[in-house]
Amino acid sequence: MMIRARAARKKPRPEDGGGGGGGGGGVPRREDARFQGVRVYLVERKMGRSRRSFLTQLARSKGFVVEDVLSDEVTHVVSEDCQASSLWTWLRGHDVKNLPTMHLLGISWFTDSMREGKPVAVETRHLIEDTLPKLAESTSPAPVLTVSQYACKRRTTTTNNNKIFTDAFEVLAERYEFNEIHGRCLAFRRASSLLKSLPRAVRCLGDTGGLPCLGEHCKAVMEEILQCGRSFEVEKILSDERYQTLKLFTSVFGVGPKTAEKWYRGGLRSFSDVLAAPGIHLNRMQQSGFLHYGDISRAVSKAEARALGNIIDEAVHAITPDGILALTGGFRRGKEFGHDVDFIVTTREPGKEESLITNIIERFKQQGLLLYCEHNASTFHKLEFPSHQFEAMDHFAKCFLILRLEGSQVEGGLHGAEGDDRGWRAVRVDLVSPPMDRYAFALLGWTGSRQFERDLRRFARAERRMLLDNHTLYDKTKKEFLAATTERDIFAHLGLEYIEPWQRNA
Ligand code: UTP
Ligand code: MN
Repeated sequence: MMIRARAARKKPRPEDGGGGGGGGGGVPRREDARFQGVRVYLVERKMGRSRRSFLTQLARSKGFVVEDVLSDEVTHVVSEDCQASSLWTWLRGHDVKNLPTMHLLGISWFTDSMREGKPVAVETRHLIEDTLPKLAESTSPAPVLTVSQYACKRRTTTTNNNKIFTDAFEVLAERYEFNEIHGRCLAFRRASSLLKSLPRAVRCLGDTGGLPCLGEHCKAVMEEILQCGRSFEVEKILSDERYQTLKLFTSVFGVGPKTAEKWYRGGLRSFSDVLAAPGIHLNRMQQSGFLHYGDISRAVSKAEARALGNIIDEAVHAITPDGILALTGGFRRGKEFGHDVDFIVTTREPGKEESLITNIIERFKQQGLLLYCEHNASTFHKLEFPSHQFEAMDHFAKCFLILRLEGSQVEGGLHGAEGDDRGWRAVRVDLVSPPMDRYAFALLGWTGSRQFERDLRRFARAERRMLLDNHTLYDKTKKEFLAATTERDIFAHLGLEYIEPWQRNA
């Protein structure tokens, strides 16, 4: 995941914790396996013993953890038995509690992963067909299958099997956000996040039995969608003038719900209304937001994110040989598109991270790449912590940028630029620069998703009496700060199973 300044390549990567791999060709020891977050179990039925043993060795030689026995540790069950019903009967015969969070996969996921040399994201085509009995029967008394109410205890890939429901829930959440009814907004966000984690589509309300986070209102909306293919409440919101206007205004960089509401109350309904209104003062961020609206409201592709990574890598390397650059945000979670690109830039030299951001900005300015920059100097003072305002901005040095990206630097060209012969686009980029001893906290906090972060913090507070934010983890019982050099350390302090970045799309 990490893109680093070239000269620093020989040093251990923070995320590796200096553990090292298996080295030259042999099968790495289990604790040295590269993909610790993925625990594969190969089902012997239909596969046969010798093929299973061959595939096990193959996967282990590529750095995968392959479990010999089916246990709660397992995250990916791979089977050549395509008959879901018999497979489920077999799986239920084992005393595992977290079946609902395991991926039940056909051999295609395994072969794809072997080819790629890493665990590939689970896609619908990998799933064993018709896993319906899994949820429908989860209410039956025999095995109690539980899905956690906390997003940080679930594995959520970018494959959303319940988009028809989650799209509706997002609209409802947003309406409540605009109306400042925060409890209901959060309830729909949680429900949406829960559905995203499910390994298959909900096909009837009975499928939701035993699932947390789904209140009466949520279920009523789902029932309507199941029966009519749409929700009338959602349709009403979507055609509501106030909702449409607030949605339009908040799509501008620098315009939040408060400003949007103010403009709406002032009778403004369109961008031209705003730009023509006499009493409106746009701040610098909003001016840039309007100026580059066409570009920055267009999704950023993975290839564009990679190109920006190269440009920033070059800058960091030119400034300091000790520099470190890591991709965070949605792209680190494996998303194909994003609204911006988020990076952590820092250096191993304590205290140097402050000037790194200003040097990068200066360089971009000279190169003519800087279309907009808001730089926030660090307000990081250790004594202020732990913060109780978890949703507040963190205190690291950071900058919110709009950069000029040349199409020639993007593999396959700019995204969605057909018929546009300008040859470049504007892109939103965020850089954050934590001191090295806070690197893991910053990486965890900026990788998201927002819902995953919220639940990590909620879990820490409610279940562990700990306070977590982008800078630190504090144990209220022991009255001490818990240090961490990798994300794994933080999950371990919290007593949570490690969740890979690509499983944090809650
Ligand atoms: P983003 O808003 O960039 O979301 O914040 P994203 O998940 O990358 O999705 P898109 O594709 O860009 O829309 C990324 C993470 O950074 C954290 C947020 O909480 C989120 O989890 N973040 C962002 C902060 O912690 N502080 C900030 O000031 C901004
Ligand atoms: Mn982002």
